[in-house]
Amino acid sequence: MTAGKLREAYISFFKKHGHREISSKSLFPENDPTVLFTTAGMHPLVPYLLGQEHPEGNRLVNCQPCIRTGDIDEVGDSTHLTFFEMLGNWSLRDYFKEEALSMSFEFLTSKNYLNLDPDRLAVTVFAGEESETGSIPKDNEAAEIWLKLGISAERIYFLPSEDNWWGPAGRTGPCGPDSEMFYDTGVAGCGDNCRPGGCSCGKYVEIWNNVFMQYNKTAEGQYQLLTHGCVDTGMGLERTIAVLNGKTSVFETEIFQGILQAISCATERDGQIQHVYGHTESPEDCSFRIIADHLRAGIMILGDPQGVAPSNLGQGYILRRLLRRAIRHGKNLNIQGIFLRPITEVVIAEMGSAYPNLHTRKDFILSEITREEERFIQTLHKGEQELQRVLQQIRNRSQEAILPGRLAFKLYDTYGFPLELTEEIIAEAGLKVDHEGFQKAFDKHREASRKGADKVFKGGLADHSEMTTAYHTATHLLHEALRQVLGDHVVQRGSNITADRMRFDFSHPRAVTKEETAKIELLVNEQIERNLSISYKTMRLNEAKASGARALFSEQYDEEVKVYSVGDFSLEVCGGPHVESTGVLGHFKIAKEQSSSQGVRRIKAILESKH
Ligand code: ALA
Repeated sequence: MTAGKLREAYISFFKKHGHREISSKSLFPENDPTVLFTTAGMHPLVPYLLGQEHPEGNRLVNCQPCIRTGDIDEVGDSTHLTFFEMLGNWSLRDYFKEEALSMSFEFLTSKNYLNLDPDRLAVTVFAGEESETGSIPKDNEAAEIWLKLGISAERIYFLPSEDNWWGPAGRTGPCGPDSEMFYDTGVAGCGDNCRPGGCSCGKYVEIWNNVFMQYNKTAEGQYQLLTHGCVDTGMGLERTIAVLNGKTSVFETEIFQGILQAISCATERDGQIQHVYGHTESPEDCSFRIIADHLRAGIMILGDPQGVAPSNLGQGYILRRLLRRAIRHGKNLNIQGIFLRPITEVVIAEMGSAYPNLHTRKDFILSEITREEERFIQTLHKGEQELQRVLQQIRNRSQEAILPGRLAFKLYDTYGFPLELTEEIIAEAGLKVDHEGFQKAFDKHREASRKGADKVFKGGLADHSEMTTAYHTATHLLHEALRQVLGDHVVQRGSNITADRMRFDFSHPRAVTKEETAKIELLVNEQIERNLSISYKTMRLNEAKASGARALFSEQYDEEVKVYSVGDFSLEVCGGPHVESTGVLGHFKIAKEQSSSQGVRRIKAILESKH
């Protein structure tokens, strides 16, 4: 079984059962500033799970690329991945437990589909829980269904909420018990505590999860039973391929063979390959796995329709961390010079059929990866020497196993070492970074640059004069217009407003074209013509987010925020001040568009009085 065939089989099975295939969504979540990446197939479907009608109906299926960076430091072992694909099927207030579990069982065991031995399956169900805000019963219903389907009682495990509860996406909302399906690989196991989800000895591999969203968690923390629940499922593509092919590691599957071989080729010196991946726990094989995972994730981030370039902010910073960690592990394999380009080409060729964006954005992906590699390689060696020198000093001086924060900051600032990379390197020598010291050095540096040439005003405003206020309202119009014309990936990165002009920084991977500029100006001026009135409501931050209001990712907000609406055009968390209606703004004109930093563009605009 290959990845391509499994995607096809899964989707065709659920289509036969009345599901509509929906396209996968961007790795960059829309309107959810709480996470950087799409972490599960259900993530883009939250509004529909919350009650909105989905245009494709109430039975859906797809394959969704996901990134989970919480596990980034675990990558290197044989199971963890930062980038993976999740197959999923959903019932939006249509079928529930009985049908969901029956379909799962059929897909897993039917000869026409995965043909797994039912006696090798084990499942977990929710054990029930008492809490201060009420009790939630044991999920006997799911267990009964499994029994009926033919899973024997000793293979059904009742587990608590840490294992078998899917919480709401925010503080409130749909949630419920889940039931996970495991495959017993047949290895001996690790003794008394060996059970699905309970150990990591490799006997039981989780392949699928069915979530039954049957409760609504209220703001008071109570669980209300819903009359019509939803089902959300997720099957890990790479793990399932491993199980189906009798492999104990995802890195042994066909999915990774091309990339591992390409890494091997990169170790060639004088016509001789220095390292071949050997499926062991050796540091070299660990480096192979890290490069393979991180580069795949990096390529998918760059190749995403809303992809960003490496930077020191948000998703761009994660991308930088992934690429730089991969580059450093290349050095562990004695690879000389830059090496990621040919490996990247192999990945694009392999993944491009499932993700055509990788082809259309190939030039961007390749040039950004090479650029990042060149940048980092230039300082990597010096930075490592500096780090070794400092480590030696620390060892000579004291027993203390702490790297001072200002030195970690110097490595970050001068040599481009992400803090986490420094941590990883010094952990090998048994040391830790002084985080507080790092943050202090970081803040001090930022303060110093603020005081420098580029003055930054509080909230981006120089004063509260009439003109400054008008410019401030215009930034709201511009922000929304940018999103409508350039795409949802546009996020405000900063603003700077005086009585004479406004400056607005936003994430966007390339220069804004003349045509786009004209459209943006037109859209803003149309809103001025409409003379929209501006008002605000005070609400809690999570309510503001739920209402779809734009908010600045990097900003610290209070629990209570003001949400300003400009007519029906824009909704944004903001402290004000604003004009009363857009008619007074005059004529909006973009004076300049330029790069601000990597992946961030800057627009300077003026308001002209109407002639
Ligand atoms: N959303 C569920 C998961 O990711 C299915 O496990």
